[in-house]
This record gives sequence, C-alpha cells and structure tokens, in this order.
Amino acid sequence: MSGQAARHEASAGVARFRCGAGGELTAAMRQAYDRDGFLILEGFVPAADCGTLKVRAAELVEAFDPASSHTVFSALTQAHARDAYFRDSGGAIRFFFEDGAFDAAGRLVVPKALALNKIGHALHDLDPVFDRVSRSARFASLAGALGLARPLLLQSMYIFKQPQIGGEVDWHQDATFLYTEPSSVVGFWLALDDADTGNGCLTAIAGAHRGPLRRRFRYRDGALAMETIDTTPWPAAPQVALEVPRGSVVVLHGLLPHASGANTSPRPRHAYSLHVIDGGAHYAADNWLQRPGRPLRGFA
Ligand code: FE2
Repeated sequence: MSGQAARHEASAGVARFRCGAGGELTAAMRQAYDRDGFLILEGFVPAADCGTLKVRAAELVEAFDPASSHTVFSALTQAHARDAYFRDSGGAIRFFFEDGAFDAAGRLVVPKALALNKIGHALHDLDPVFDRVSRSARFASLAGALGLARPLLLQSMYIFKQPQIGGEVDWHQDATFLYTEPSSVVGFWLALDDADTGNGCLTAIAGAHRGPLRRRFRYRDGALAMETIDTTPWPAAPQVALEVPRGSVVVLHGLLPHASGANTSPRPRHAYSLHVIDGGAHYAADNWLQRPGRPLRGFA
C-alpha cells in the first residue's frame, strides 16, 4: 500500500478512507471526522490480526463455564445493571449473554459460542493477544492524530452480534456510559467480519456529534440508573449505514448518536470495540465503569 491516502465514496455517499502505512491521518480525514463525527478507515487492521482476535475470543469462550454466570446484556432494558457480575466488569474479562439464551429452567437453548452477546471490559489489559492489537502503533498514532494528548485505554468489548439472534443496540452516545469533563471519549470499532445492513452494521446520524449529551448511565444512591440530562431530540439529519469490510476501523466521536440493527442474517458480525479517553480530562466518579486497584494505561 502506498503512503498516499485515497478517498472513495460509497454508494450511499459516506466518506471512506484508507490510511497509509503509518496509520497517519490526512487533512481530508480529519475534516471528515470533524464534519460527520465518524471516520471510516478501511484496511486499518491487517487481516491476520483480525483472524487472531477471532481465534483468541473463541478460546476464551471455550474456557468459560456458562454455569458461572447467566448475565444477559440488553442495550434496550439495561437489566444487566443490577448484576454485580456486570458492575464489576470494568477491570475484568466477563461474558454476557443474548436475551433469550436461556430457557425457564436456566438452561442454554443454543451452544454457548452462539449465545453470547459480548465479552468485556478489560480485554486490552488482561489478555496478551488483545493487549498487543489494542496497543499497536497504528492505534496509538490514530489516538494522537485525533487530539488525545494523553490517551488512556478505558474499555474494550468483543461483540458477537450472533447470526439470527444478535440483538439491536438502540440510539446512544458513548459519552453516556464513559463520561469525562470535558468530554473526551473516542471509540475505535474494528470490523472482524464484513458488516452491512443485513448483519447489523453501525448506523449513525452524520454531524450530530455537535449536539449535547442527552443521557448519563451512572451510580445514584448505590444503584446504576439511566438519567436524562438534556431533552434535545436527535436531529432529523439522515441516518447513514456504516457498511464496512473486515479490517476497517470506524472511529466514533463520543457524542455521536449511533446504533446498530439486529443480525437477521445467517452470517456472523463480530467486532472489537476499544474506547479511549484523555488522561487530562476528569473521569467521573459516578460512571458505571470503575477500576479500583487497576489504574488505566496508555498505549505504551
Ligand atoms: Fe456505542
């Protein structure tokens, strides 16, 4: 690949780019990110690394005993917030199931490898394979180019979006969950399979990152709750499907409203999501994700 970055247009008119060998951003890329609140970087992670992450996730699932937890992750109801298994997962590697994975007797209705919603939330610190890919020079360079002066890796998730049963994720801003003052969270969403509207790719409202933060998911009186802090509706700007091939990274501004549909296809739609904040911003003490005894680390 040449060092020259090229810009293409998708059929839907979504700007998409391909980085040069060093992973540096061009002025056109930064402009697109500032304008849209997202940035599609195709071919950002080598196919070999995508394959390695999938194999490693499968190994982790194989070693996981589903009898140890039945926590269902539901982006729609946030029911998982009541479980200590979820609440204490900020500094751990834990496994969350799809809604409907268990029958009334608590038995899995599909094999565990097809029943999981995600693994989270400290893969990048606790697993050597995820650590290596998360702390690659390309991601470090990307964080710097996006203006994070002292980037800290906060959260990682391996998201399965299983064939036929992978549930939808409704409209949200990532700063709702990972709040700093000033807002600094940026998401790196890595497609481990080709993602399209059939298997539940990301959807975003282009440019809507310039609006306020609407909600916070935080501790109140010892319990986690979703709280509306600004009632401004999502803008009527067109919703764009962020269809990307495997190996692409979608950079998501922390205030960008985004969602993803259910996977109604027979195809997998695995993704690895990494969230980075700026160490110069204040991390709220009432955020859901806390890491007692495990300080955040940067890319080094
Ligand atoms: Fe998100």
